[in-house]
Amino acid sequence: MVVAIDGPSGSGKSSVSRAVARRLGTAYLDTGAMYRAATWWCLEEQVDLADQAAVAAAVDVMPLVMGIDPAAPTVHVDGTDVGEAIRTTEISTAVSAVATNLAVRAELRRLQRAIIAAESSVESAGTSFSGGRGIVAEGRDITTVVAPDADARILLTASEEARLARRSLEVHGAADAAAVEATKDQVLRRDRDDSTVSQFHVAADGVVTVDSSDLDFEQTIQAVLDVVEQ
Ligand code: CDP
Repeated sequence: MVVAIDGPSGSGKSSVSRAVARRLGTAYLDTGAMYRAATWWCLEEQVDLADQAAVAAAVDVMPLVMGIDPAAPTVHVDGTDVGEAIRTTEISTAVSAVATNLAVRAELRRLQRAIIAAESSVESAGTSFSGGRGIVAEGRDITTVVAPDADARILLTASEEARLARRSLEVHGAADAAAVEATKDQVLRRDRDDSTVSQFHVAADGVVTVDSSDLDFEQTIQAVLDVVEQ
């Protein structure tokens, strides 16, 4: 079974997707973490992010290993655990420049499809954490480009207000007016930049929208599981 979940920043897609994978007993793939890791790697290698060819060449040889156990997902680049390093403001600010590079997208999508295929094929059962048990993959273009044939395809949305409040809580530990304002520029600018290469604000044909604006965490998980079980 393959479950594809897309959504904008602050929609709750990572935490919800991970919880859904745990409940379903499948693997979990955070594709945003792959774009973040690519950005971390380019900065580490001192690649000029404006140099599209250099960025693409660096990502082509990036030694990326994704740990897809939903109980403890991991990201390693060249043996370094970058799980925390890829969540900094520096990476969040730079990631769209890397993610809008079409050669980078082609390479990361190839890796994503390989991981999804390995986890959803019966032949690989027993060879890794969850081979053959299925996978929940989340990002911006999973329902449309990476896994358009997924068994369940969901667009997780939330109002701008709800998304900003959530992201502000995550980043600043508060959702008062000042904290929301500090988050606003970054979240909205990133969504705008990302929209130039993937359409994740409107559900594509056959994709079910789950609006989490008025749902708490548990209710959102349930709403997604309802779609999967349909
Ligand atoms: O912080 P947030 O949860 O919004 O983002 P993320 O899922 O960690 O993704 C980080 C960035 O990776 C996004 O802003 C996009 O630029 C890029 N991304 C993408 O282009 N395609 C995907 N399938 C997933 C992420």
